Amino acid sequence: MKHYLGIDIGGTAVKLGIVDEAGMVLAKAEESVSFDGYRTPILTTVLKAAQAFLAAQSVPAESLAGIGVSATGQIDSRKGIVAGTCGNLPNYIGAPIKAELEKTFGLPVTVANDANCMTLGEVWGGGAQGYTDVIGVTLGTGVGGGILTGGRLLEGARGLGGELGHYRTHALDGVDCTCGAKGCWERYAATTALVRAAQEKDPAWKDGRAIFAAAEAGNETVLALLDAWTDEIAQGLAGMVHIFNPQLILIGGGVSAQQKLLIDPIAAKVKAAVMPAFAEGLEIRAAQLHNDAGMVGAVYYFRQTMEKE
Ligand code: BGC
Ligand code: NA
Ligand code: ZN
Repeated sequence: MKHYLGIDIGGTAVKLGIVDEAGMVLAKAEESVSFDGYRTPILTTVLKAAQAFLAAQSVPAESLAGIGVSATGQIDSRKGIVAGTCGNLPNYIGAPIKAELEKTFGLPVTVANDANCMTLGEVWGGGAQGYTDVIGVTLGTGVGGGILTGGRLLEGARGLGGELGHYRTHALDGVDCTCGAKGCWERYAATTALVRAAQEKDPAWKDGRAIFAAAEAGNETVLALLDAWTDEIAQGLAGMVHIFNPQLILIGGGVSAQQKLLIDPIAAKVKAAVMPAFAEGLEIRAAQLHNDAGMVGAVYYFRQTMEKE
């Protein structure tokens, strides 16, 4: 049985896992990072973490078939580099992830956007198995997106495709986005957007957990905030449904376990917002792979790219 190293480079952590041919995660580790410019260059962090992780495994580096990397930002998957991010992150932009990992480990490497990987991971071993037309979104610090159309990941010319968080839902009158534009969906639909709005009402509502706890307790202010937030999420998704005509929308990110307060209202609102023909048969659910989606999907991306007949 072949094994792979999956690496997921996110805004707050680098996650590593040994993934087998069936998509099972056999071992994993996590290293916190500060995305705040990545005080140390990201590649130093990733290489050190990967070396330490592999040294602790019973699977020796030589028995690995390759490395799949999932990374936040605009990833040029053809070159395996970070082509851009939101804001100025000098230690991240331009990072030659593929070349450096190949040199260090002597293994083939692929690199792709985190939400593109998440969507593929769900197709391989999660909630999108058997589906050919899927939109995956991750709600977190930002909003990530992945599009599967006709069974294939939509990557565009350089692998940058599916950057749904920067779809402009409020282009003309919107708030500034860290990418330099105005009115990007992520400014309204990310978990951070909800937290920002909640903080203005009560500083105690400092994260998703506190906010959903207050909603569970029936706090009307929070329920109104959630209603406005799910409106923003649903309106963005409705526009995408008209472009891609998906069978399934999967919602990931830390908050996606909130079925009653998040997934159910989004599903109802999207179905009400789209043209009726698009609502027919459309399923909207929480993603299943949670924390492992990025690394598992990165390995699936590797296999599809490097091992296809
Ligand atoms: C970035 C995307 C990324 C998403 C989730 C967004 O801010 O622009 O590239 O997929 O965050 O990490
Ligand atoms: Na994407
Ligand atoms: Zn933006």
